[in-house]
Amino acid sequence: MGFREVNIETLEFNPFTKIGEEWMLITAGDEKKHNTMTASWGGVGIMWGKSVATAYIRPQRYTREFVEDQEMFTLSFYDETYRKALNICGSRSGRDCEKEKEAGLTPYYVDGTTAFEEANMIFVCRKLYRQEMGPQCFTQEDGIDEKWYPKKDYHVMYMAEILKVLVKE
Ligand SMILES: Cc1cc2nc3c(=O)[nH]c(=O)nc-3n(C[C@H](O)[C@H](O)[C@H](O)COP(=O)(O)O)c2cc1C
Repeated sequence: MGFREVNIETLEFNPFTKIGEEWMLITAGDEKKHNTMTASWGGVGIMWGKSVATAYIRPQRYTREFVEDQEMFTLSFYDETYRKALNICGSRSGRDCEKEKEAGLTPYYVDGTTAFEEANMIFVCRKLYRQEMGPQCFTQEDGIDEKWYPKKDYHVMYMAEILKVLVKE
């Protein structure tokens, strides 16, 4: 089974359920070396006239080093049968183990970056913008900083153009 490219404007994609509840994998790197992690925070939209996706990655994630170094990364989406795989990718670090093998995922190399054959949809993304988040930028004092950043490990935001949407054939 392969993937087929579809026009992004034909997508029925609810980010609140797709990202927030079903989760996604953020993957960067190539045949030689790549890494992946689960994410349930992120977004999609329009910026600078382009279709973009936004990922938020804490500084200590191994995946962040790959996203940082590479021009491209993928966001990939899975059906419920891969929940266990996504839990593994969201709890183990690629620094310590070959987690994609543990998770039973098969690399799928595309456009110089990596996703997984088990995905039902892949966004191939080209990084456009990065920004380090920080406490000075909160506009409300309603406890988000204290709740989510007791270790002061503020996310880095990566905004990327969605160059291609691939869906499972
Ligand atoms: C459901 C779920 C959602 C997550 N979402 C994010 C996220 O949006 N950003 C982030 O930095 N970490 C997130 N994580 C944590 C990383 O996936 C986790 O720390 C992972 O082990 C990092 O792997 P790495 O060190 O190989 O990159 C999430 C974990 C889970 C289980």
